[in-house]
Amino acid sequence: MNDIIQQVEQLRQEAEASLAQAKNTEAIRTWHSDYLGRKGRLTALLRVLGSLSNEERPRVGKVINEAKIALEQAVQERQEALARAEMEAARSAERVDVTLPGRPQTLGKLHPTSMTLREIYAIFTAMGFQIYDSPEVETDEYNFQLLNMPPGHPARDMWDTFYTTTPELILRTHTSPGPIHAMREYAPEPIRVILPGKVYRYEQVTARSESMFYQVEGLAVGKHITFCDLKGVLTNFANQMYGEGRETRFRKSYFPFTEPSVEMDIDCVLCNRKGCPVCKYTGWLEILGAGMVHPTVLQYGGYDPSEFSGFAFGMGPDRIALQKYGIDDIRYFFTNDARLFERV
Ligand code: PHE
Repeated sequence: MNDIIQQVEQLRQEAEASLAQAKNTEAIRTWHSDYLGRKGRLTALLRVLGSLSNEERPRVGKVINEAKIALEQAVQERQEALARAEMEAARSAERVDVTLPGRPQTLGKLHPTSMTLREIYAIFTAMGFQIYDSPEVETDEYNFQLLNMPPGHPARDMWDTFYTTTPELILRTHTSPGPIHAMREYAPEPIRVILPGKVYRYEQVTARSESMFYQVEGLAVGKHITFCDLKGVLTNFANQMYGEGRETRFRKSYFPFTEPSVEMDIDCVLCNRKGCPVCKYTGWLEILGAGMVHPTVLQYGGYDPSEFSGFAFGMGPDRIALQKYGIDDIRYFFTNDARLFERV
């Protein structure tokens, strides 16, 4: 009897040692059938019970049962520990290092001209102006003739023109044909519109001039519109665009489609009239051309000039952006170099 009890003890120790060596689920399964399975070694010892006496049987049976329970518990614990370790290994293999610094996103920005255009829209729409779209490809008639410049008129030389292979069809040299479209659409209603867009000039490209740039045209037509309205609207615009207290100056000028014609300057935003390279030491910056719509042009637009009057203006938002952000070369605007945006 003692012999069997000793065998059980030995088997138990051996089983425990072997269990500690089992490194994965597969090894545990083998271990289980070796010791606790139907043909296992502990199960085999149970069969010996039959050959024992009635006194011995319960004692030996108890020892074997205890060994069985202990081993079953041991294998369960081992199994759980292994499963945990396997899970841990899988987890650390897939781990994402959240402490790794992210790649910085380069944020987009609006083009300086777009920013300037939006400011212009906001200021004029608040004064009741609507935005009116008109074509970039125009006829000679709209770009010149209806603006009081018949063929051969010397003032046409003010706008170097891109012609197309289609006779009469040109790229507009200014946004001034737009008001003709607007007047012909709305006459005889009163009008307050701004007309933004690209214009094209057959000019040498330099730091100060591009062959394509933006203009914003403005037009107000109605009864009793005077030069005071023109000055009031444009001075208000200057104060909102460049800051309250801005001084404006109107100089006489000439455009065939306005009479009288003026150019508006503001005191230089950079030097406050002391004189600097941006204002070419004059203390003033030229901002726009303007004037009272010529009676002939009103008539072409469908308005009776004895009843109606109006004012018009045209400005270059690219140039305004150049001055505002202190950029010294207009060519940067179209070269797609993102360093431009570090300035604005
Ligand atoms: N179209 C003129 C230019 O391109 C500007 C202008 C617009 C002047 C409207 C007076 C009135 O120079």
